[in-house]
Amino acid sequence: MTHATTEAQSDRNLALELVRVTEAAALAASRWMGRGKKNEADGAAVTAMRRAFDSVAIAGTVVIGEGEMDEAPMLYIGEKVGAGGPAMDIAVDPLEGTTVCAKGAPNALAVLALAERGKFLHAPDIYMDKIAVGPGLPPGVVDLDAPVKENLRNLALAKKCDISDLVVCVMERERHAHIIAACRAAGARITLISDGDVAGVMATNQPSTGIDLFLGAGGAPEGVLAAAALRCTGGQMQGRLQFENQDQIDRARAMGNTDPTRKLSIEDMAGGNVMFAATGVTTGPMLNGVRRSATGAITHSIVMRSKSGTVRYIEAHHNFSIKAIIEEA
Ligand code: FBP
Repeated sequence: MTHATTEAQSDRNLALELVRVTEAAALAASRWMGRGKKNEADGAAVTAMRRAFDSVAIAGTVVIGEGEMDEAPMLYIGEKVGAGGPAMDIAVDPLEGTTVCAKGAPNALAVLALAERGKFLHAPDIYMDKIAVGPGLPPGVVDLDAPVKENLRNLALAKKCDISDLVVCVMERERHAHIIAACRAAGARITLISDGDVAGVMATNQPSTGIDLFLGAGGAPEGVLAAAALRCTGGQMQGRLQFENQDQIDRARAMGNTDPTRKLSIEDMAGGNVMFAATGVTTGPMLNGVRRSATGAITHSIVMRSKSGTVRYIEAHHNFSIKAIIEEA
């Protein structure tokens, strides 16, 4: 086998290995679904994901994780994970949507993405303005700086439909009142989600979700993860970090962002070859949540690679006790 062939092979194997990691986190979090304890759910997901990384053949460095070393015991920024192999940067959110998991509401995911060293935006834990559409549309069809009405008009033209046929996904927050009002005034329809904007952005990827456009501000780390997902399918996304004070700007600069207030392209957020995996914890527009029974559990995951553009949905039947699965992962 040539070097190129073995590299392609190990890339493919790695992508599948990643699903085991998100499955482990989702299974662990699912124990806490609807039990009103978001910290316990998050902690279980973090521990399971951290442990599952031990068997993945990479020399990984966490760049988007659970926080700084002094505030997170595991999967902190800068932590080295993996069993050894190619040097990769890692973005993780072991439980994206802690509140929705605690409520048993839709859109909680276990998520991770991998890129070559230096290709993820080092995003501080602040808000990011986001706009995203799925694949197959003309480049620049929407723009973060354009008025909502103009974006809807251009998207409707590109999709050869009326604005009233479009559905915009927006997180239900007071800060989005102007976006919601502008969408409604232009005649578009809206899906309001309570949390989980990685799932919201990802939903633009898949026509069956019925979501055409994502708009609004959510976590910046979640923005990087969502950008990695869209990179794998040819979707489009732009972002801009939202700073509340000079301290936050200085912190972003210290993390390597030379021009922190600029509009970010999808490649600025997740460049080069990326891989993305997510497993549903609770059911959302793209993935079913974990289903548990006396004999095991069923998980539903997605895994994608930007190099090939392949999107795989994996329904895994874990046919033995969930405790053993989590311990084994
Ligand atoms: P957590 O998993 O940290 O609870 O994040 C959930 C989430 O809804 C994200 O998807 C989103 O980016 C962010 O919170 C929005 O933050 P806020 O709740 O402050 O609007």
